[in-house]
Amino acid sequence: ADSSALPAPDGAAAAASPAASSPLASEVERRRTFAIISHPDAGKTTLTEKLLLFGGAINLAGEVKAKKNRRDTRSDWMSIERERGISVVTSVMTFDYRDRVFNLLDTPGHEDFSEDTYRTLTAVDSAVMVIDAAKGIEARTRKLFEVCRLRDIPIVTFINKMDRESRDPFEILDEIEKTLALDTTPMTWPIGRGRDFVGTFDIERGGVRLLDAKDDSGPPVAMEMSEIAALNATLDADAIAAEMELVTEACPRFDLGSFLEGHLTPVYFGSALKNFGVRDLLDGLHRFAPPPRAQNSDAGPIDAADPRMSAFVFKIQANMDPNHRDRIAFARLCSGKLVRGMKAKLVRTGKPVTLSTPHFFFAQDRSLADEAFAGDVVGIPNHGTLRIGDTLTEGRDITFVGVPSFAPEILRRVRLSDAMKAKKLKQALQELAEEGVVQVFRPTDGSPALVGVVGPLQLDVLKARLAAEYGLPVEFEPAEFQLARWIASDDKAALDTFVAANRSGIAEDLDGDLVYLARNEFYLGYTRDRAPGIAFTDVKETQ
Ligand code: G4P
Repeated sequence: ADSSALPAPDGAAAAASPAASSPLASEVERRRTFAIISHPDAGKTTLTEKLLLFGGAINLAGEVKAKKNRRDTRSDWMSIERERGISVVTSVMTFDYRDRVFNLLDTPGHEDFSEDTYRTLTAVDSAVMVIDAAKGIEARTRKLFEVCRLRDIPIVTFINKMDRESRDPFEILDEIEKTLALDTTPMTWPIGRGRDFVGTFDIERGGVRLLDAKDDSGPPVAMEMSEIAALNATLDADAIAAEMELVTEACPRFDLGSFLEGHLTPVYFGSALKNFGVRDLLDGLHRFAPPPRAQNSDAGPIDAADPRMSAFVFKIQANMDPNHRDRIAFARLCSGKLVRGMKAKLVRTGKPVTLSTPHFFFAQDRSLADEAFAGDVVGIPNHGTLRIGDTLTEGRDITFVGVPSFAPEILRRVRLSDAMKAKKLKQALQELAEEGVVQVFRPTDGSPALVGVVGPLQLDVLKARLAAEYGLPVEFEPAEFQLARWIASDDKAALDTFVAANRSGIAEDLDGDLVYLARNEFYLGYTRDRAPGIAFTDVKETQ
């Protein structure tokens, strides 16, 4: 037990499932599965590393940062990551903190891989939003926040880099409220700014944490205003007292219900680099972050404490281990318990899959998972059986809904120098599309397939992987089409008529769903105006 542990706030019981009565229910109840959302450079990697330190994964904490400089040869496409200093890989990091098991799902930092990130956000129950104190809300933070909002994911905010020149904290809170329409409750408050930043007030408990304190495991230290002001020549006791009064009066109190609904965020100030404020943040997650939520399926919400195992695949990754040439499907457990060796049903095909070697991952390291519970993420090695969006169950015919695909921003045709290898290319594209590396659209008039990506770096990854793994050197050519939209209609006859009338612009995606390919926005608008009853969408969700 930890002396700084706080009692749960009023209404905290709402965050817990009603009765953690069975051993299964209490294991599920302990899980906290979250992601960090931020704009590149705000400090996500640094914060991740520090969170893992607290989680006792000290010997491994260097691993995350080392990713940037890694010099070993994993696979060719990983070298793209290395060269550009970006993170393409989504991995899962599990750590214990006090009585809880935290699963931190890492996401690619580069926006060209944003589709991966969006899918990962379907597998979490809460998120930490990291903001650079000098920059405030940046483009990518905002976009990722919007994705969280679609699912009402509760957000805990960490204002990072307080040890450097920063914007006025009131201004940052105001920006969060205005640009994200999210209420804020500061849980801590910075004392001093920039080089004169000396620590934080704990607004709820009172007391102060000092930047140069050796140990932050205890409760905040009680200090007189005059003592605080004496810490630094720029500080003034009256001014600090006045500011604290304003903070307590002007900022709303923390409301757990509002947080869980995604309307209010608790805000912590700190410096990931100096490992300051991180424990307060982690304590906040420990207290407020919700346990595994009920996940929507085509048969209604599936409760996490339901004893029958169910899971969905949100990410596929190839070649985690160059010696294995395997494919790992990352699955989020939605209910029940997974036991190594169990047989699960792959609902899409109705076929059984034996989970003989499910793995837990720590960044690049893995270990066999003997059992896992709702909220956990396991990696399932396979040779192409599993696809993104797949549901695995203990026999039930349910499918989890809401794993999204996004209409590509870029469409290309793949040019192969050796025409004899067309069949191999077809197979390779199919496999890579199942992994979510690219989308493949096959025109129904028999013309060559198009590949679609959200960002240009994905094309580089595709090219590198086709060469390295399939021995297929390719180039990309502009396609006559720029846009792809999924089409659907309740009126089957109307859809058939549309398809017949637009034959040259119709394709099928990986799942055989119909897609309309348009030369440009003008054509798309023109066609859409003349096709009442046909829905054109740029996001497709598993259903
Ligand atoms: P990211 O994953 O969100 O892209 O950010 P990352 O943690 O890599 O941090 C980006 C840069 O910001 C790094 O500096 C990092 O050291 C710095 N940084 C992170 N947190 C803090 C903080 O609290 N205070 C200060 N002053 N700096 C912080 P870099 O020079 O780009 O990389 P490095 O050479 O230091 O590794």
